[in-house]
Amino acid sequence: MPLVTTTEMFKKAYEGGYAIGAFNVNNMEIVQGITEAAAEEKSPIILQASAGARKYANAAYLKHLVDAALEIYPDLPIALHLDHGADFEICKSCIDGGFTSVMIDGSSKPFDENVALAKKVAEYAHERGVVVEAELGTLAGIEDDVKVSEEDSSYTRPEEVQEFVDRTGVDSLAIAIGTSHGAYKFKPGTNPQLRFDILEEVAKRLPGFPIVLHGASSVPQEYVKIINENGGALKDAIGVPEDQLRQAARMAVCKINIDSDLRLALTAGIREHMAAYPDHFDPRQYLTPARANVKAVVKHKIAEVLGSSGKAL
Ligand code: G3H
Ligand code: 13P
Ligand code: ZN
Repeated sequence: MPLVTTTEMFKKAYEGGYAIGAFNVNNMEIVQGITEAAAEEKSPIILQASAGARKYANAAYLKHLVDAALEIYPDLPIALHLDHGADFEICKSCIDGGFTSVMIDGSSKPFDENVALAKKVAEYAHERGVVVEAELGTLAGIEDDVKVSEEDSSYTRPEEVQEFVDRTGVDSLAIAIGTSHGAYKFKPGTNPQLRFDILEEVAKRLPGFPIVLHGASSVPQEYVKIINENGGALKDAIGVPEDQLRQAARMAVCKINIDSDLRLALTAGIREHMAAYPDHFDPRQYLTPARANVKAVVKHKIAEVLGSSGKAL
């Protein structure tokens, strides 16, 4: 089937109490690992590309890699989404280039500017059958080398969400409830706790409306350990507890963004292989276990965290 939008996916996910995984893609092995896992789990899936991914791989390569996955798995519902679009131009370029969903990230702008930008993107996108995600509230962490400190991050204010959605016409909304980008989300010794009270309040004000969770990697400690035991130095890498992600998926959260976990899985595979076989220099040798790790982590997320197994049927 051709690429789909997220409309139907989110409607079913909301009603069914599960979430769709939105996994970041940067190269062929990542696309392969994710889609093989989703096909085996019979789970709908969102493949998302950031501006950094487009710069690294070239937008055309990414689009064609995704097209290849559509050809290989004709029964798998796949949406192609722009992650963290910074301005109207990048959203327009993705909409014109065949993406079925874009995020306009005006979360660091004042409310009215965020509204105006999201509205402009939504109008352009909707005329072309593309859906739009926007964000209210600011996550801490790193994206595209831009670091938002904990002091500059802010939780979403539930009293703003209804006006934002009404004025912009966006199709889904990312909110800040304590997650953050990257592999260092919480301080060691603290008790990670998402603000479900905010999520609940948002859901009350936007009944049936799909909510998105960014920064939702759980930073699997087995991969951190493998990396560190094989020459890496990831100190105090801590993610979101998976039971809290599962709880969010049961509530109004319909899209859960995962990138760092894929990076950790891939890197663990490469480091472990390189350490075991120092004489290997064929990329196919070390990328094979790395890709298998990506597949394994995505299968685990789909089956145990998102709850989307079998929902592609
Ligand atoms: O939200 C950030 C994603 O992990 C994408 O990261 O901008 O380094 O590609 P990136
Ligand atoms: P993580 O860094 O937690 O994987 O978040 C990814 C993300 O939010 C992509 O937009
Ligand atoms: Zn994000």
